[in-house]
Amino acid sequence: MNINVKILRFNPEKDKKQHWETYQVEANGGDRVLDVINHVKWYIDPTLTFRRSCAHGICGSDAMLINGRNRLACKTLLQDVVKSGGGTITVEPIRGLKVEKDLLVDMEPFFDAYRMIMPYFINEDAVPAGERLQSPEDAARLDQSGNCILCACCTTSCPIFWVNGSYLGPASIVQAHRFIFDTRDAATEQRLNIMNQNTGVWRCRTAYNCTEACPRDIPITQLIEEVKRAVMYQQS
Ligand code: SF4
Ligand code: F3S
Ligand code: FES
Repeated sequence: MNINVKILRFNPEKDKKQHWETYQVEANGGDRVLDVINHVKWYIDPTLTFRRSCAHGICGSDAMLINGRNRLACKTLLQDVVKSGGGTITVEPIRGLKVEKDLLVDMEPFFDAYRMIMPYFINEDAVPAGERLQSPEDAARLDQSGNCILCACCTTSCPIFWVNGSYLGPASIVQAHRFIFDTRDAATEQRLNIMNQNTGVWRCRTAYNCTEACPRDIPITQLIEEVKRAVMYQQS
């Protein structure tokens, strides 16, 4: 089928603002949006700039706004975003982060927020001879948050983050959840205090955009509510 790929372009060296450019690509319904964008870069315009690495939904580097919705280009099949006879897809950079060039945004504010929640295991107790054991039930508590690939689809679809970049955002809260509910971690109180700050969980207004955008099907809003309850319990 014939696809019109409409990409929001921006070159800071010559453009004053973003503009749309459209490319025609011959593709199959089973191709991914990443294949189509690669085709544009490799055979039509090598200046097109975007991130991608694993091409298999693992690294989280190719989050883009595809047909107005945050998705991973490597996990999005054409047949899910255009009609079987072909059509147009729009591709834009994710929102709320500065566009450096074309589809490439500055991820530093996103990772600054991630670093704020201390995303590493903390426990000063003497290291045991074997593993630090957990019950299967306690381990299962981390299954959902542990699936996060830090793609930023959630945070950059959150209207609260768009208007207030100081909000840590759903991705950082999911990461905090992963440690707060880890029975082996000893910094729960510190992390809950970070969540209780005015940049933390109370900024969330349960808009649900984040949950709908997550390519890993993580129930983000539910996890945020669990963190809110843990903060309330700590404060009571
Ligand atoms: Fe991406 Fe989901 Fe992690 Fe958010 S929670 S960063 S959408 S994988
Ligand atoms: Fe934003 Fe998700 Fe809360 S979209 S407002 S973080 S439920
Ligand atoms: Fe790695 Fe898409 S390229 S998740």
